[in-house]
Amino acid sequence: MQVFRKIFCGTALLAWLVGLAHGAGDPARGSRVFGQCAACHSVAPGEHLTGPSLAKVWNQKAASAEGFSRYSEALKRADVLWTEATLDAWLVKPEKFLPGTGMTFPGLKEAKDRQDVIAYLRAVSEGKAPQGRQGGRGMARMSREKLDLRKAPAEGQVTSITQCGDTYTVATADGKTQKIWEFNLRFKTDSSKLGPLPGKPVAVGAGMQGDRASVVFASPKEISEFVKQSCP
Ligand code: HEC
Repeated sequence: MQVFRKIFCGTALLAWLVGLAHGAGDPARGSRVFGQCAACHSVAPGEHLTGPSLAKVWNQKAASAEGFSRYSEALKRADVLWTEATLDAWLVKPEKFLPGTGMTFPGLKEAKDRQDVIAYLRAVSEGKAPQGRQGGRGMARMSREKLDLRKAPAEGQVTSITQCGDTYTVATADGKTQKIWEFNLRFKTDSSKLGPLPGKPVAVGAGMQGDRASVVFASPKEISEFVKQSCP
């Protein structure tokens, strides 16, 4: 029994040491852990969501993703190079690593999760990402409803919005109208190539009911032009 335990411990120790030597993480498993990041991050180059694209993050200076214009002052000022060690410290608890960061993410508690997701980010940057799941982009799309708004079905194509008192009346191309409390309707803009065409706002959200309905416009100046004040 003693002997067995010794052998077992020895093997485990060896596996651990070998793991360390090889950068440890398992990128395939890391691509699944990345599901927790995918609501805010894409690994496609230049595709910025709430957070910057992480396509080239490995060995890069912090706050250097090209075309991402929403970095916090804290991250811009941080003199950090993203390596295994800095990414690990960051992912334990971003707000602790860098007070004032705009990444509102509680952190990954498990060391194994951090190691694996870091191995995945490294593989992505080096063009060796495991095939199959490309970092959960599908999930990112679902969670922020980043559909091609130019292809919205009739029930999503907004034809008019009128406002009377505290109520918006939203008419859509399927001939329906809905009355929504002003506080429950959000106006958004999407200037990307998946956003609506000028003058063709699109309604998204849980069937426009409740507090989740949003109308997305091509640009902010359209909003006040489109919404007409009119009481029946
Ligand atoms: C709720 C949204 C959100 C989630 C979830 C999230 N992030 Fe972020 N992340 C951000 C934002 C926003 C920034 C920019 C922070 C800043 O400017 O301070 C960022 C920045 C980063 C950076 C620095 C990038 C650079 O260009 O310097 C890395 C690395 C990163 N995130 C990794 C991750 C990983 C890995 C996960 C999942 C384990 C994750 N993030 C989860 C929003 C998020």
